[in-house]
Amino acid sequence: MRKTKSKSRANPNSVDLRPRILVASGVNLDLLGRREPGIYGHATLQDLEAIASREFAARAELVFAQTNVESEYLALLDGAWAGAVINPGAWTHTSLALADRLAGLQLPFVEVHLSNTAARETFRHHSYTARLAVGVVQGFGINSYLLGIEGLLRYLMTNAS
Ligand code: DQA
Repeated sequence: MRKTKSKSRANPNSVDLRPRILVASGVNLDLLGRREPGIYGHATLQDLEAIASREFAARAELVFAQTNVESEYLALLDGAWAGAVINPGAWTHTSLALADRLAGLQLPFVEVHLSNTAARETFRHHSYTARLAVGVVQGFGINSYLLGIEGLLRYLMTNAS
């Protein structure tokens, strides 16, 4: 599993009060940039991390992870997260286990997809997880992630306990 963390801009002795957000990409998303670019675009996950870390540096601590192993993906979700932005890839359409875990964890999350799955093959129209999400963003390439993070931060701000 690949996992990276956005750097804190604050001095090392100060307490980081930014919400800790997991940005979790699932199966085959490690291939972004060379995988069917006509559908998924040319940007890589590394590009996404660089852009998102920069854009949200002041407002969130972003932890990026990608794995092709479903059990690792499930384990990842059970962390000290204020919320998550998830793109489970094909697990979106297949994994009842992922849906059950998200229901059990009660983790506020936004589901994102690079492509507009509603405009693609019918087997991509159903998501096991979307009904549990705060919201879904799809069809904007890597901007779906950025919009998803923005939406989640606004959701957390207005629904802070
Ligand atoms: C995807 C859409 C899924 O249908 C597909 O299996 C993926 C990528 C997207 O981001 O558009 O792997 O989640």
